[in-house]
Amino acid sequence: MGFSPQDIVFDLDLIHKYDKPAPRYTSYPPATEFSEEITAEDFKQKIAESNIRKTPLSLYFHIPFCESACHFCGCNVIISHRKEVVEPYLDHLYREIENTSSLIDTENRKVAQLHWGGGTPNYLSNQQTEELWNKINKHFSFEENAEISIELDPRHVDKEKVFLLRNLGFNRVSFGIQDFDYKVQEAVNRIQPEEMIFNVMEWLREADFESINIDLIYGLPYQTLETFEKTIEKTIKLNPDRIAVFNFAYVPWLKPLQKNIIEEALPPAEVKLDILKMTIEKLTNAGYVFIGMDHFAKPDDELAVAQRKGELHRNFQGYTTMPNAELFGFGATSISMLYDIYVQNYKKLRDYYETVEKGELPVARGVILNEDDIIRRDVIMNLMSNFQLKKKKIEEKHNIVFDEYFSEELEMLKSLEEDGLIKMYPDRIDVTPAGRLLIRNIAVTFDVYTRNKKEKRFSKAI
Ligand SMILES: C[S@@+](CC[C@H](N)C(=O)[O-])C[C@H]1O[C@@H](n2cnc3c(N)ncnc32)[C@H](O)[C@@H]1O
Ligand code: SF4
Repeated sequence: MGFSPQDIVFDLDLIHKYDKPAPRYTSYPPATEFSEEITAEDFKQKIAESNIRKTPLSLYFHIPFCESACHFCGCNVIISHRKEVVEPYLDHLYREIENTSSLIDTENRKVAQLHWGGGTPNYLSNQQTEELWNKINKHFSFEENAEISIELDPRHVDKEKVFLLRNLGFNRVSFGIQDFDYKVQEAVNRIQPEEMIFNVMEWLREADFESINIDLIYGLPYQTLETFEKTIEKTIKLNPDRIAVFNFAYVPWLKPLQKNIIEEALPPAEVKLDILKMTIEKLTNAGYVFIGMDHFAKPDDELAVAQRKGELHRNFQGYTTMPNAELFGFGATSISMLYDIYVQNYKKLRDYYETVEKGELPVARGVILNEDDIIRRDVIMNLMSNFQLKKKKIEEKHNIVFDEYFSEELEMLKSLEEDGLIKMYPDRIDVTPAGRLLIRNIAVTFDVYTRNKKEKRFSKAI
């Protein structure tokens, strides 16, 4: 008998001992291993190989623009009121779609998953939204039950936009709330009255979106246990299918925008832990289950269902039920993730535009995976997604003897078992309910790139 994968225990002593910076493992090797040695030619070669696999497609489109700057924002964004910035961006995005899709066997490979992210995809006008949608549909065809999702900024949607998106074919939405408290909203330059949020939710329900996710952030200025408790209560009332509660990644040296945040107003570490504990208790009492890494979902949501079956997976877009789909990212900064190569597009618009104009794929950097990377990725993603590792599954897939291949790691894991984060059996490793909040710190044992590094390049889990 193992644990139910969705039980979770908040153990303060373990958190204090183990919560060290570690990658979020949306990929293995992590993005910190990307190098400029990987080129568009490498990517082309790997696209040709992926065509032989005939795997389904997952497409990501990045719309980097936002109308105003949220001072906490850590995403790749361009803040502009001048809507003229969109046209040249879309022109280049269209060229990239033409260039890349011509290399993909789109006859035999259908789109299983599509996501528009940002920035703010609803920065596009209704006409531009339709135009981009049509362009994608001209070059790709979709599976019948494809997951088609979009990120929205609730401050800039109206009922018409909601219905336009649903009628085009979008069936999932994710939007940011971050915090309902006015003082917090003011401090981060993101005012959004409660009424507005509830209206947007009502429109989305009326339009019959299949799954609605909302984002919250804890650790923002002026948050206290009491204020965030109210935010959680309002969120439960809003009744979304999924809730992401992110730990505020405060990295002003990387994101100058965050210098606008008054450091003294940030809640101290102990308050953040109290907030997290309360959040977990309230959400699980309200019937949400813990999926892992900041994510909660209703028990009948497909992520929760897949996790109970031990079939959940993880990729650059987070948790997913589609293991085989290979990800192609379009637009500046986007990441593509095929079986044995990851590449990232240029971040600066100028570089992105220049390469696309030359008819080249705008690859800035990446990594090619070797056999060991692929085995370790499988182990890490299984642990991250399902809180369990069945040795036989890895052995059969990769033709290894688990206990021999990972003898060093199994030795390292002994102290984690003594502390109660995991339980090791001859045939499997289970992550205990107390180990689940520290899953990154367990997974890092299998990560040969990160585990010996001293640098602080990753955020802490909690
Ligand atoms: C691209 S935004 C979502 C869409 C839309 N732009 C919006 O803000 O509503 C993705 C999410 O990342 C989260 N986020 C952004 N910056 C963050 C940071 N520094 N730390 C933690 N989470 C962050 C926010 O919760 C945000 O909703
Ligand atoms: S949180 Fe969303 S709206 Fe705010 S700056 Fe970041 S991407 Fe833009």
